[in-house]
Amino acid sequence: MDATLTLAPNPLRQGMRSARTVQPCVLVIFGATGDLTHRKLLPALYNLAIEQPLPAQFSVVGVARRPFSDDEFRQQALDSINTFSRRRPVNPAIWDTFSKGLFYCQSQFDDAAGYAKLGELLDKLDQERGTQGNRIFYLATPPSFYGSIGELLNSSGVAKRSGADTQHGWSRVVVEKPFGHDLASARELNANLNKGFKENQIYRIDHYLGKETVQNIMVMRFGNGIFEPIWNRQYIDNVQITVAESIGIEGRADYYEQAGAIRDMVQNHMMQLLTLTAMEPPNTFGANAVRDEKVKVLRAIPPLMESEIASDTVRGQYGPGLVGGEAVPGYCQEKNVDPHSQTQTFVALKLLIENWRWAGVPFYLRTGKRLTKRVTEIAIQFKRPPYLLFQGAGADQMQPNVLSMRIQPNEGISLQVSAKVPGQEMRLRTVNMDFLYGSSFGVEPPEAYERLLLDAMVGDSTLFTRIDETELAWSLVDTIVRAWETTKSPLPQYEPGTWGPKEADALIERDGKTWRRL
Ligand code: BG6
Repeated sequence: MDATLTLAPNPLRQGMRSARTVQPCVLVIFGATGDLTHRKLLPALYNLAIEQPLPAQFSVVGVARRPFSDDEFRQQALDSINTFSRRRPVNPAIWDTFSKGLFYCQSQFDDAAGYAKLGELLDKLDQERGTQGNRIFYLATPPSFYGSIGELLNSSGVAKRSGADTQHGWSRVVVEKPFGHDLASARELNANLNKGFKENQIYRIDHYLGKETVQNIMVMRFGNGIFEPIWNRQYIDNVQITVAESIGIEGRADYYEQAGAIRDMVQNHMMQLLTLTAMEPPNTFGANAVRDEKVKVLRAIPPLMESEIASDTVRGQYGPGLVGGEAVPGYCQEKNVDPHSQTQTFVALKLLIENWRWAGVPFYLRTGKRLTKRVTEIAIQFKRPPYLLFQGAGADQMQPNVLSMRIQPNEGISLQVSAKVPGQEMRLRTVNMDFLYGSSFGVEPPEAYERLLLDAMVGDSTLFTRIDETELAWSLVDTIVRAWETTKSPLPQYEPGTWGPKEADALIERDGKTWRRL
């Protein structure tokens, strides 16, 4: 007896064109021959070209070490789009116009001469294609180059220290994650970027913020009148945030060995989910108003003591096993991983937010690789009804209400409620009221990178991470990592295809609660 929420007619069905105007500009991609550019950036730019928010003058310059010609770069872009675009195969008419705006500049990322060459090319594009001196620099290189690219863009004069409209154009820089490895390195990187760019010119990417379902957390909370009055400690028992993946590390040992799940997922994506769920309503939907509220949440998380880290955090590492009937290696057997590695591939933790809204409500977070399935969900678990009127009808065994925001896959929102089973007797059962993006909206949502690239072009940094947010998230993570290292806390193994180590169950069961079965 599933009830279905009815929705008003969907205006988006007419198309998802953005009303926001992009000024003529050039996007310079450092790391143009890398995986991110190939899989995400070029396909996203092409998809934007189809949706038409880009002006005719829009141009892309790929910068990388390989000796490509413009034509070779265009061929690579064509292959990327035909392989990864959600609008593949390429439409010849759109490709023809789009590809004429693609250029390549070969350079080492730390070679001043290369920046002079890049500057000449950009000046030429200003003249010939009318890009008006407006420049976005996208750092899609290994993170170790971010600082020197920032410095050289400044010292070469290729970037302008202005994020706003000026007579001679504006410059912005988009920085991929990870933004540093810990608080100290994040600060150092920021200091280097600040040599060339002011804070309002820096767009720190967290691709989770570009996901439709993540943006919908705010719409759900603040675009409806019924949730905010109960979105607090009086009605909510606990909040569970799960970001589970079934994949392993996919050949990224060099990066992952240094990162582990806490740096790879908790410091960024999970903190974004947490802050959007817990923040106060901002006064406006402006970049600083939204980010101010997120920062307040991070500030309200009390610093964890060593004893709390021992009891309220669990880490784990996947061992060898079977996934979907196929044998998969354990983390330590993955290519290029130290066979004695202590890197965690799973983290569970309990956090508290000490403010009037949330005091006493635990937020349980868990993330891991090689888990049962790929699912990201924020579950708001409400308190039980204060009085069990329907005793004997099974009410005492009923699940309390849960509002589940499913970020991916099967994107949607589901509210778990108790209902009467049809028949002469009074029997209760838990049912779901479901809203599914797939069936309610007749269009495929844009990918995260499309939204974020467009936002950077229009100068909207709402969905990018501000430096204070980044720093606060790092200091939380640093405290945990330091305690793990000094106390040599155990690193239990878990079997692939499970929900992680049993210690994670113990963490939540100690509070008389259980993880959601997903
Ligand atoms: C990335 C992490 O930021 O996010 C990866 O580095 C992870 O390890 C990925 O797999 C998950 O993103 P998504 O969009 O697939 O949930």
